Amino acid sequence: MEHQHNQPTPETIMQIGTGFWASKILLSAVKFQVFTILAEQKTMTAAQIKSHLGFECTDRHVFDYLDALTTFGFLNREGLLETAKYTNSLNTDFFLDKNKPSYIGGMLEMLNNRLYGFWGNLEDGLLTGQPQNEAKKGDNLFEKIYADPDRLKEFIHAMSGIQMGSFMAFAQKFDFSNAKTLVDIGGSAGLLSLMVAKHQPHMNCTTWDLPPVTPIAIETIQQFQLQDRVKAEAGDFFKDQFPKADIITMGNILHDWDEETKIMLIKKAYDALPEGGTLIAIEGIIDEDRNKNVFGLMMSLNMLIETGTGFDYTLADFSKWAKQIGFKSTTILPLEGPTSAAISYK
Ligand SMILES: C[S@@+](CC[C@H](N)C(=O)[O-])C[C@H]1O[C@@H](n2cnc3c(N)ncnc32)[C@H](O)[C@@H]1O
Repeated sequence: MEHQHNQPTPETIMQIGTGFWASKILLSAVKFQVFTILAEQKTMTAAQIKSHLGFECTDRHVFDYLDALTTFGFLNREGLLETAKYTNSLNTDFFLDKNKPSYIGGMLEMLNNRLYGFWGNLEDGLLTGQPQNEAKKGDNLFEKIYADPDRLKEFIHAMSGIQMGSFMAFAQKFDFSNAKTLVDIGGSAGLLSLMVAKHQPHMNCTTWDLPPVTPIAIETIQQFQLQDRVKAEAGDFFKDQFPKADIITMGNILHDWDEETKIMLIKKAYDALPEGGTLIAIEGIIDEDRNKNVFGLMMSLNMLIETGTGFDYTLADFSKWAKQIGFKSTTILPLEGPTSAAISYK
């Protein structure tokens, strides 16, 4: 971020200002499956990549595109221009090859196909306070997305990619010794429940989400072969009470909604927990000084784009809502990168 020097420098201004160039180079490479093709072919020249992808731009621009990806660290290169041979970097080979289970490109695909365009209207979002996506005309975002099977799948896979590292960290770092059951509200494909069941053999987990999501969760549970301890249930948190459990989790749920809805959801969790039970929100919790977790701040603006009134929050915000409902104490457990678990005990 911006460092104060004695002399003014435009470096950060220009780097952030042109940030969408870099972003679009990576997102388009994911869309063209450059890393998947390179994982199959191992090594390719620029001419081979150009012909494989059907590019009709000049050779010069193909070199520039691939060398920008190389400079970012996403490709390795031996040789130069016509003699150059490209391979995947360690990270892109692991995370961006579509044929590997470790693929996290789902989120990048959604960033490219949905959010890149919607963020073009950030000014309108700020000026009007209205969402800038499929729900622009006042519809429910999830109903709009889930009405189209392809968008539904893309959205669910995007969610899986963005939170996977944090769910793995949560399943290993949190103390589950006083609990037997967990319900994950808005659990999407079920990954949080699956990670907890995998790392905590005494835990039984339920992933709970809207009816169109349940078949995708059931399929994922079968892939992990954890049907004996993870189940998927359909529910609507605007209509139904939460199933009872020792731990209730919500990953990237509270930030979707305005303060009143957040408090309603925290209250439903409180009602479903026993004395000593725990509510855990896993999100990009913003630091109290609001000057470190810039991802959390940007995610909050992403909620402006997606829902109009949803926003990310600090532990102090979460504690205020939780205590107002009756939770006894709260704490924070840092997970991966900008994501933490905000924890409250009943
Ligand atoms: C932003 S996603 C988060 C998914 C996942 N928990 C994670 O951390 O990646 C929000 C989830 O809330 C679910 N959801 C939205 N409205 C809901 C409702 N009324 N009842 C239950 N789940 C809902 C969506 O289907 C979606 O899976």
